[in-house]
Amino acid sequence: MKKFLALALALVMIFALCACGQQAAPAAAPAQEAAPAAEAAPAAPEAKTYKVGVSIYQYTDNFMTLYRQEIENYFKTLETDTVKYEITMVDGKNDMAEQTNQVDNFITQGMDVIILNLVQTSSAEAVVDKIVAAGIPLVLINREPAAENMTNNPTVCYVGADARQSGTFQGEIVRDLPDNGDINGDGKVSYIMIEGDPENSDAQYRTEFSVKALTDAGIEVECLDDQVGNWDQTKGQELCANALAKFGDKVEVVFCNNDGMALGAKAAIDAAGRKVGTDIYLLGVDALPEAVELIKNGEMTGTVLNDHIGQSHTAVDVAIKALNGEALEDYYWVDYLKVDEAYAKANY
Ligand code: GAL
Repeated sequence: MKKFLALALALVMIFALCACGQQAAPAAAPAQEAAPAAEAAPAAPEAKTYKVGVSIYQYTDNFMTLYRQEIENYFKTLETDTVKYEITMVDGKNDMAEQTNQVDNFITQGMDVIILNLVQTSSAEAVVDKIVAAGIPLVLINREPAAENMTNNPTVCYVGADARQSGTFQGEIVRDLPDNGDINGDGKVSYIMIEGDPENSDAQYRTEFSVKALTDAGIEVECLDDQVGNWDQTKGQELCANALAKFGDKVEVVFCNNDGMALGAKAAIDAAGRKVGTDIYLLGVDALPEAVELIKNGEMTGTVLNDHIGQSHTAVDVAIKALNGEALEDYYWVDYLKVDEAYAKANY
């Protein structure tokens, strides 16, 4: 009898378990209902939109205007049906506090990558640290931070050109003139220097290496004047006009750290009744279209191509590498190119 009871109890339990299993079945039903939606997904793949924050140190800068426009153009050309780039580009207005706010906003907005043209390279550390702490890859452009800020971090890099090369090319253009820049034949090249932002390594190296190319060639030099024009055309004109008024015919060469200031200097040279190629030489850097036009006509002695196309494309390419999770090198360099009259006539 006990055996019969035990068997009956076991049968009741088995039945109960089966009944539970059956009850569980309806719970699986929603998963089956969800299946058709999952099957439809591949038919309409969602485009991935990456958010890119770009801050440029100052929109009014001639060279950085070409550069930033090309960043936008080039990103557009790389878009596909499935990958889009939403660019938020802002003007740092040459104000580091303003730019720091912009970086804070980029972090809050959850940018996927940041491209930064620093207002002040001396503030690099603080800004780089914030961005790294937020886990956002960073591509620094155009204004090279001190080496110690480039921390061997695979999510941070600098894209630029070696400013020593641009200075050397300016000096070599003068060295290779028939009179080596010594128009009045007194055995030395008397020059004025119009500098960009002195905090900037582009300004420092161009100032140093343009003159060094002459002294390395055994040419004696005399610096009549060295002033800061902050990359600005109007300032370049004013400084050149002052120097020409003060030193007159003694000025044989006008070295400008960029073409913007050289275009200003050209206006001052014209106003002073001087003639480039005859009684004065004029050099810039960047190869802005206006400067190249003057060189072709013999109205400016030379410039150096600061390759905004190569640099902007490299900056965008490495930003995309970072978006894809690839490790970045510390530095990506783009070469300068010497642009004298012969080169300008043959290539532009
Ligand atoms: C230089 C360029 C200048 C100015 C400056 C801004 O490379 O030659 O024209 O744009 O960058 O930092």
